[in-house]
Amino acid sequence: MITINELRRKYMEFFKSKGHAAISGKSLVPDNDPTVLFTTAGMHPLVPYLLGEPHPAGQRLVNYQKCIRTGDIESVGDASHLTFFEMLGNWSLGDYFKDLAIVMSYEFLTSPAWLGIPAERISVTVFAGEEGVPRDEESAAIWERVGIPRTRIHYLPREDNWWGPAGETGPCGPDSEMFYDTGKAACGPDCRPGCRCGKYVEIWNDVFMQYNKKADGSYEPLARTCVDTGMGIERTVAMLQGRRSVYETEAFSPIIAEIETISGKKYGSDEETDRSFRIIADHTRSSTFVLGDPKAVTPSNVGAGYVLRRLIRRAVRHGKKLGISGLFLDRLAAVVVEKFGEAYPELVENRDRVVTELRAEEEKFLETLQKGEHEFEKMLPGLLKNPQKVMSGRLAFKLYDTYGFPIELTEELASENGMTVGRAEFDEAYKKHQELSRAGSEQVFKGGLADHGEVTTRYHTATHLLQKALRMVLGEHVAQKGSNITAERMRFDFSHPAPMTVEEVKRVEELVNEQIRRDLPVTMQMISLDEAVASGAIALFGEKYGEKVKVYTMGDFSKEVCGGPHVERTGVLGKFVIQKEQSSSAGVRRIRAVLEG
Ligand code: ALA
Repeated sequence: MITINELRRKYMEFFKSKGHAAISGKSLVPDNDPTVLFTTAGMHPLVPYLLGEPHPAGQRLVNYQKCIRTGDIESVGDASHLTFFEMLGNWSLGDYFKDLAIVMSYEFLTSPAWLGIPAERISVTVFAGEEGVPRDEESAAIWERVGIPRTRIHYLPREDNWWGPAGETGPCGPDSEMFYDTGKAACGPDCRPGCRCGKYVEIWNDVFMQYNKKADGSYEPLARTCVDTGMGIERTVAMLQGRRSVYETEAFSPIIAEIETISGKKYGSDEETDRSFRIIADHTRSSTFVLGDPKAVTPSNVGAGYVLRRLIRRAVRHGKKLGISGLFLDRLAAVVVEKFGEAYPELVENRDRVVTELRAEEEKFLETLQKGEHEFEKMLPGLLKNPQKVMSGRLAFKLYDTYGFPIELTEELASENGMTVGRAEFDEAYKKHQELSRAGSEQVFKGGLADHGEVTTRYHTATHLLQKALRMVLGEHVAQKGSNITAERMRFDFSHPAPMTVEEVKRVEELVNEQIRRDLPVTMQMISLDEAVASGAIALFGEKYGEKVKVYTMGDFSKEVCGGPHVERTGVLGKFVIQKEQSSSAGVRRIRAVLEG
């Protein structure tokens, strides 16, 4: 039975035998890409080369790349969704195109020397075409020539068979996907690859890069066509091993076994419990890879650090559900390091940081939980007197508002004591609170504006440039702790453990002035907080998911969730001068700055 390590090795070997240079995967935290928080596909670090820059290793490349996609984090827990996964990929940078890409894909999948999948189990999809881009008859003909009959070649539209990077712009083109037929009965007459019933599992995607999508939405033909392919390791191994789920492969089974040991519960006995097992296993694996990355971010309230915090806290919460008390994530991380340390030596190198950061975040969250539970217990005698056995939503909200105690846990505690929670009332209080705090902050700001109008708007825009510049110079841990603007100056408080050096102050000042000179356009978008965070916007922790927020973007430089208002272009700000950098409170620094002229 093929293992994950074997699949990785076979893939690399196969493409090396076809003249591909093996290159190493890159960091989970992308370089110079403001459009995403994490590397989301194998092609990500290769974008400049797909756009035409020569790659030092040549025109045929192969690698494996660690990826994180958190767009559907709430779906994790079912049998197939993962936040972290490994992607195998082979690339042609202006070398072969559709023909050889498909010929090689077919050989690797079906040849007994490689994966040896029976050809009749494989079906494929190709791009159905649309105005301006023809139906991909060329790929269909190649598939037929190598041995896939027409009945198993399907033409699908853009939603299924067009690929571009997670950000808005970049290399893209039609693709051809390969599916494995699990042998399950078809769910109906229209059941075919792309159907979600589970009969067909997508295992590989050959993307034929032909265009560069520009910021204005237009498609510019690439100077040379490229091939980008992606095979998800976990899913492919699950399929080859005949497993029902990726969680039954060795990517997860040792982690799940350790959770069994720690919790004393068995995986596979109850669907609700299993879900918690899977969430803990997935989130711990992702967190370990993020913290073990050479460019690790640490848990925080913004950007990638915020996603990491969510992953860790969600794992802890589900640990509690399984009855685990005390710290446990470091034990699971040890299993992840042991399992993946050979393919990803950075995990071994950074083991100490992984453990330290996991413990610190887990402790912090457990404290929050303990305080909340303690308060709940104090309320309990009063609650039990209620003949309807309902805890009011107002009280549940108080626990959330004062102690940060998650509503799901209040509901759990209530249920353990034979009660329910007035959820509608909670939701209402929650909504009102959100509205009030937003109105409040707008009010504060309006007050300022009424007095000083345009000048304070300029300062407000400058705080966004400043925050981003600080994060670039000092690191991603920088988060806004407060700001105060008058018509004469701005004050900005932010988390940072040490005084800034003279050079750092100068560098930050220069970065801000550079963005002013570039006269960047300032644009606003209304999107959900989830989308905003996924797109890399800086956001404060504690806002509610799904809710629409305003995101202000300043050129390619800054993106932040904020109520506004802002100037239309950064060019009007004048010259930015930092007058003072001093301590504000423990771990918080304060900058005083002015805009001149
Ligand atoms: N970049 C393509 C994908 O992620 C191969 O599916």
